Amino acid sequence: MKPKILVTRELFDETIAFLEGHFEVEANQSDRLYPRDELIAKLKGKEGVQTSSSDRIDGDLLDQCPGLKAVCNTAVGYNNIDVEACTRRGVMVTNTPGVLTDSVADYSMGMIIATCRRMTEGESYLRTGEWKGSFLKQLLGQDVHGATLGIFGFGRIGQAIARRALGFDMKILYHSRTRAAADAETSAHAQYVGKEELLRRADVVLLILPYVPQTHHFIGAKELALMKPSAVLVNMARGGVVDDGALVEALKNKTIWAAGLDVYENEPKLNPGLMGLKNVVLSPHIASASEPTRQAMAMTAAKNLATALSGGVPPNLLNPDYVKFAKG
Ligand code: NAP
Ligand code: 8YV
Repeated sequence: MKPKILVTRELFDETIAFLEGHFEVEANQSDRLYPRDELIAKLKGKEGVQTSSSDRIDGDLLDQCPGLKAVCNTAVGYNNIDVEACTRRGVMVTNTPGVLTDSVADYSMGMIIATCRRMTEGESYLRTGEWKGSFLKQLLGQDVHGATLGIFGFGRIGQAIARRALGFDMKILYHSRTRAAADAETSAHAQYVGKEELLRRADVVLLILPYVPQTHHFIGAKELALMKPSAVLVNMARGGVVDDGALVEALKNKTIWAAGLDVYENEPKLNPGLMGLKNVVLSPHIASASEPTRQAMAMTAAKNLATALSGGVPPNLLNPDYVKFAKG
């Protein structure tokens, strides 16, 4: 008898085939988002689940699904999972670090350029037929080359963004919970500074850190007020890291010049104030969405699940302490 697992959202056929080699798989190739009660009902009797970041896994759910041994997220961020609650119930949790780093870093550079140079505003100007010809002061933006980039969260992705930004002759400042190793700073020519100094000095402030209680509204009205009026905020991290309501006010009042956002509080709903603003570039949480990278993320999560349920230690285990509470 193969262990039973649930896959909560659509996967690539290759990933499903891999999982079927190990498990009795209940897949969701129609990609319908399961309401919470349905998710819990489907998880009863399952030993493992391959989740997406839209699934909330917490203690209440785990108590109703006592057979669950492994939760394998198809994302590097895992704020949708209460890891502590999993650990205390002997449930392994994994994520997909590394395989998406370069794709997210590429996209982040795109977001910096699109926001500084008003690329989406220019496109809609064309599409709505407003363009009547070129003139000197048309859609003037901020230069990317030579600008100072301030990165909050100097981990895998933050460092990959910094390396790319060097190619644009940007000066790199960063702030992180822990100061990076000297070789990481040297290879990105990055200077470690305090949070306030970064906000005051950067022309582009970019967020790429995890969403945890300590980073809730990491950027709010107070922080936005410290930024230059010509500065751009780019949120590649998670909804909730920025107070979107305060950001709307700052963009309206020109406290800052513009913002580029891939993630939102309460996504897929957006703060309605964002929609009417021209000085914001909006994208639907797709920074990792290249075909090869999404394939790699799906397969990484599936391999974590296969290892977890065959008695091994999954490569991307987040909570080694689960063993203290492990089920037989
Ligand atoms: P990572 O390698 O773990 O890097 C995270 C960095 O953030 C580390 O330098 C970490 O410092 C720092 N950090 C953690 N808590 C902090 C705090 N309270 N204040 C300041 N810095 C803090 O992770 P990653 O692979 O680069 O991914 C980072 C995040 O990006 C993910 O958690 C996810 O939310 C987001 N992401 C978004 C997308 C998207 O589609 N938009 C795609 C991928 C990832 P320490 O070393 O001290 O922990
Ligand atoms: C995911 C992400 O694609 O890995 C992460 O943390 O944010 C993205 O790569 C996202 O969770 C959408 O499912």
